[in-house]
Order: sequence, then C-alpha cells, then structure tokens
Amino acid sequence: MVAETHVRVDDLIAPLFVREGISEPQPIESLPGVVQHTQDSLRAEVAALRDLGVPSVILFGVPETKDAEGSEAWNPEGVVQVALRNLKADMGDDMVLISDLCVDEYTDHGHCGIVGADGDVDNDATLELYMDAAVAQAEAGSDVVAPSGMMDGQVFAIREALDEAEHSNTIILAYAAKYASALYGPFRDAVDVHIADGGDRKTYQQDPANAREALEEIRFDVGEGADIVMVKPAGAYLDIIAHARAELDIPLAAYQVSGEYAMIKAAGEKGWIDERAVMHESLLAIKRAGADLILTYFAKEVATELAAKELSR
Ligand code: PBG
Repeated sequence: MVAETHVRVDDLIAPLFVREGISEPQPIESLPGVVQHTQDSLRAEVAALRDLGVPSVILFGVPETKDAEGSEAWNPEGVVQVALRNLKADMGDDMVLISDLCVDEYTDHGHCGIVGADGDVDNDATLELYMDAAVAQAEAGSDVVAPSGMMDGQVFAIREALDEAEHSNTIILAYAAKYASALYGPFRDAVDVHIADGGDRKTYQQDPANAREALEEIRFDVGEGADIVMVKPAGAYLDIIAHARAELDIPLAAYQVSGEYAMIKAAGEKGWIDERAVMHESLLAIKRAGADLILTYFAKEVATELAAKELSR
C-alpha cells in the first residue's frame, strides 16, 4: 500500500534480434532465453508480447552481408526494414515499433560509422548514413527511430532527414548518455559484431568516470529535437538516471543491457542468487531512480508474471 514505486507492463520495451538467412531461431549463448529470430518467429514473438500487454519492441538486425559503410542499414529490403513492414502489417497501432538506428551491425569493421584514414570514426560523414537509415526505417513502418551511434549532431541530422521525407511524426528516442561500457559483450555476440583490430568505441561513447558530461550530452540531444532520451547501461548508472530525471520534463528511458541481464541469469543458474527476486529488484531500482521506460531482456518474463498476478486478484 505504501510502495512508492511500481514496475508496470507499460513501462517495458523488449529488445529483439532478427537475422537474415536463417530458417530456425538461433539461441544466443551469452543471453540465455534470447534468440536471433527469423522473420516468422519475430512476428509470433511480437504478437505474444502484445497479448501480454507489452507496449513496445526495439529491433536490431543481423544482416547476411556487411560492408564498410553498413549499406544494409538503409536498404529497403534490409532485414530490419522487412521486419518493420511485416510487423506494421500485423500490429497496426497495437505495438510501438522502435528501430535501433546505427550501422555497427552492418559494417564489416564493427564500428558505428565510417572509419577514416586515421582509424577513427568520421563523425560528420557518418551522419549522412544515419539520415538514410532513418528514412528507410520510417518508410518501412518504424514509429520511433533510436539513434545509438553517439555521433555529435545525430539527432538534428535525423530530424531534418525525417521531416524532409515527410515523416515529421516519427519520434526520436536518443541514446543520449551512452557509456563505453564493458557490459555490451553479450549483445555483440547477438548481432555478430567484432570491432576490428581489437578496437573500442571510446572515441564516441562516454567515459564511465564522467557524470556531468552525460548531462551535457542529454541537453544537446534535447536541444536537437529528441522526443525521448535514454541512459545506458542502467543499473550501474542510476545516478545519471536520477540527475537526468531531475532536470528533464520529457520521457526518460533506461537500457538494462545485455551484460546486466547475463550476470543475473548466470548467477541465477548457478543458484548463487534468487534470479526472479533480483530481476524484480533490478527493474524496480531503475524505475525508482527515475526512468519512465525500461528496455530489458526480461520484458516477457516480467509481463508474464504481472499478467498472472492480475488474474489472481
Ligand atoms: C549499438 C548498440 C549497442 C547496444 C545497443 N545498440 C552496442 C554497442 O554500443 O556496442 C548494446 C545493447 C546491449 O548490450 O544490450 N548499435
């Protein structure tokens, strides 16, 4: 009765992977319970999530072919664009379709943009790719594009491209404060991304030591036209979520990333922690810190429990 915080089914966004050229869903070893979907199994999964009351999914694509620019990210027949068209046809307005907007799943070097001669990502050249990808996703039926590449000026560039292509109603969920975290490891297995030459994303993602800088990144994105902003990862960055909440009046999302999920799953499998209890506690903490929306690989599990609880009332 006196609980200040509740995790509700409509707080949840389920991250889903769809892979081109497979006939059966493929398990992801480091993400127990999560799979790379076929187009068909994706449709079934999204319908099941809708029936449980989950309002939204975010899609990540695993293409058959990769190249230096990541051109499958804006190919109208690219794996995510096909998925978006299918899901829009199935769901109409019953499910908010979010598409992750980056090129790292589509580049052969695994970086989030065009790599210049010096080996670093070329920020401004990369914006052009994001603009094309945003329009391709919107045309395919995306309700929300979610730029995750952390290029400076990406929100403004994408907003312009969408407006020009008459997609002014497409929402931008900006990965605004995204840290160069070691917790993305299992995700990179899920999308078959290996950053070339043992590289990392430290020239464009944020230093975990810095909090004020994250707030500045968030302010930039809001100023550029972001409709929703995100902090990522979530559990180790609750202070950033709380600061952002105190400062912002627009919706705030937090991403409980692959490594956070995998740690809970692994310790749970070993019997070292009570997995269910830690799942709930971790999500409650993210909500308590101030997130309105939580992207989590636990979405279906939590929604199933909440639905059962509702029934037993
Ligand atoms: C980039 C992207 C990443 C994640 C979401 N979008 C990986 C990265 O920046 O290396 C990670 C999500 C997770 O770990 O669950 N397209």
